[in-house]
Parts: sequence; structure tokens; C-alpha cells
Amino acid sequence: MESLFDNEIAEQVFYRCVEDCFEPVMITDRKGVLKYVNPAWCLTYGYSREEALGETPRLLRTENQDDKFYREMWATILNPQIGFWRGEVLNRAKDGHVVPVLLTITPYRQPMGEIVGYMGIAVDLSDHKQMEQQILRQDRLASIGMLAGGLAHEIGNPLGVMRGRAELLLKQVKDNPAAEKNATVIIGQIDRISGLIQSLLRISRIPDKVLLRSIDLAPVLQEVAILMGEACRRAEIDFRLKDVDCKVLAEPSYLQQLFLNLVINSTHAIEEQKAKGPSALLENRGGRHFIEVSTKLEEGGQICAVEIRDSGCGIAAENLRKLFQPFFTTKAAGQGTGMGLAIVLKLVEEMQGQVSVESSGPGSGAKFTVRLRAPSH
Ligand SMILES: Nc1ncnc2c1ncn2[C@@H]1O[C@H](COP(=O)(O)OP(=O)(O)OP(=O)(O)O)[C@@H](O)[C@H]1O
Ligand SMILES: [Mg+2]
Repeated sequence: MESLFDNEIAEQVFYRCVEDCFEPVMITDRKGVLKYVNPAWCLTYGYSREEALGETPRLLRTENQDDKFYREMWATILNPQIGFWRGEVLNRAKDGHVVPVLLTITPYRQPMGEIVGYMGIAVDLSDHKQMEQQILRQDRLASIGMLAGGLAHEIGNPLGVMRGRAELLLKQVKDNPAAEKNATVIIGQIDRISGLIQSLLRISRIPDKVLLRSIDLAPVLQEVAILMGEACRRAEIDFRLKDVDCKVLAEPSYLQQLFLNLVINSTHAIEEQKAKGPSALLENRGGRHFIEVSTKLEEGGQICAVEIRDSGCGIAAENLRKLFQPFFTTKAAGQGTGMGLAIVLKLVEEMQGQVSVESSGPGSGAKFTVRLRAPSH
């Protein structure tokens, strides 16, 4: 059989292979200037071929790899004993999102051995990383579940006894205001510990099959507005509901809890911002702090997205990813347990929805989006 390589169409075949390949491929000249990128490269990073050619791969660079990293990479590629480099890199696409890839760089040479340029082939690891995170989270929740089960048993019972005795004490010291106050504090603290154990059990519980029903969001969000009304008035926060006519598939008892958690966080974030002073965001918005809850339909009406925006202290980029982890809090000890958003995530997932967060950093407020399935009509 005639070999493909003897054939004069070989060049075209190789070209088509690279062109149609699902992995992003880039080819640079000796100086690192991009001379070719394949369609998968354009799709992954969001740049057109015209935008990419003439640039260097620095276009994709993130601060995750420093100069030392690149020096070592080039030393490896140019080392004739090794001759290539392979490793994980975080690239940045045109729209700013980060793409984790496994990148292989090899020099290509003239027949005499002189390097003419370099070829980089990337394998997009986004799905893989997401799955890894998911497994890690399940593992973590399973450990928390075991711990919480033990705590509920070993600490929950003595706590129950302590609470009973503290209540008895409270009755016995009715005529002694100082002792009464102390007993009340003890009961409050016992309830705090019990609440924490309950939260741990809640986030690690393997859910029973949740029966989702078609629920009108407007009354649920109006109830949240009523519950938050007094606190917001006192704190001079405008609480606005905007276009909240939307139906979702949900477990009704979950909805109020999750939206209250998010809105309470917003009030705390606004308090924190107030303590820091006026922000540019606030000046653009007429000087009054706000929490705005609105809904919109997505994906042709299949998804209802509930957005909760606030003019609070905002979130630093390095904290965005950690927000939904149990015990992550930026509040002072005793002020927050860091369980609120872990519970929100759990409730949303049990309703087969998603929750995400956006913030441009400190002082710029935050937006949480809860996406739930909308009933088909
Ligand atoms: N709207 C928001 N604006 C800015 N930061 C926020 C916002 N919501 C949450 N955060 C950040 O996320 C962290 C975690 O929130 P989470 O609700 O899980 O815990 P918490 O509010 O600290 O404690 P708690 O268990 O009492 O809810 C907060 O400490 C805060 O740093
Ligand atoms: Mg909270």
C-alpha cells in the first residue's frame, strides 16, 4: 500500500489534521510571534485569527505564571536532552475568563536542525478541573457529615442538658437582673453551637429526592422584603423588588431561607462599606445604599435567574472562589460562622439549580444569581 508520506498531498492532509483538530494549536516563529492558530484555538480563547496573528502567546498570559516559570520553561525546551515542555498553565481568554490547559511546546526545526519556530498544543482542562472540584467538595462534605453526626451525638446531648438547666436557672433568678442576663447569654451561646451543628448536618446531608413544585416567586420575595423591611429602614438601605413575576420549580420551604441568607449577607456587606466610607458605586447611584432583587428568564424561558445586587463592600477576587466553602467568612470571630452560603449552595443544588457570584472587587458591590428551572407551560 502506498504510504501517505510519499504522497504529494501529505502536506495538505497534515494541514487539515491540524486545522480540524479539537485541541487548540498555535505555531510561532523563532521570536515567538504567532504565525498560525487553528479554529479550536480561536474558539477556546475567543480571539479571531486576524487578532491573534502578529501577537505573541503573552496575549493569554495570567499572573499565575511568573517570569521564573517562563525562564524554566524555555530552558527545558532549549535543552537538547529534553527538547519539549509540558505542564499545566492558566490562560486568559479574550473575555477575561481563565482557561486551565495542559500545554505541550515543541520546537520545530529545519532539516539541518536549526530551530525555525515553536508549536504549542493545548488540552482544555476546564471540564476536568470542574469535575475535580466537585469530587473534592463531595469528599469534604462527606467528612463534615461524619464529624457533624458525631458532634450531634456527643455534644448535642450534653448541650440539651445544659440548656434545660440554664432555663431552670433563668426562672430561679427572676429577681436578680444581672444573673438573669448571664443565664440568657448562656442560653444564646448554647443555641449558637446547636445551630452550627444543625448547619453542618444540613450541608452534608444526602438529600432525599426533593419533589419540586411550580412556585410563584413574587409572594416569596415580597415576604422576604417584609421580613427585611424594618432592618433595612433602620440602616437606610433601599430594598427594591424589580420584575419579580416568575415561576420556578422549587421546594417552597427552601426558597425563603436561601433568599434571606443572601439578603442578610448584603445588609452586612453594606454595613461594612458604610464603615469604610463612600464608594464610587454609591456616588453613581445617588448616594443611597440599595439591595435590588430582580428576575429574568434565560435559555428560551427554561431558566429563571434571580439576581440580588447590593452596594456593599464587594468581594476581593481571591475570595470569590472560596465563598461557598463551609466556614469561609471574612467576619470577625463570633460575628459569622461562614455557613450561610454553603447552605445556599446546598439548597439550590437540591433544587437542581445553580448559584454564582460576581463582584469587581472591594467597594464595588456584589451580585448573586440563583438560577432555577422554570416550569414548562
Ligand atoms: N453580598 C456580599 N457582599 C460582599 N461579601 C459577601 C456577600 N455575601 C457574602 N459575602 C462574603 O462571603 C462570606 C461568607 O458568607 P456566608 O454567608 O457563607 O457566611 P457569613 O455571612 O460570614 O456567616 P453566617 O454563617 O453567619 O452566614 C462572608 O463572610 C463575606 O465575606
Ligand atoms: Mg451569611
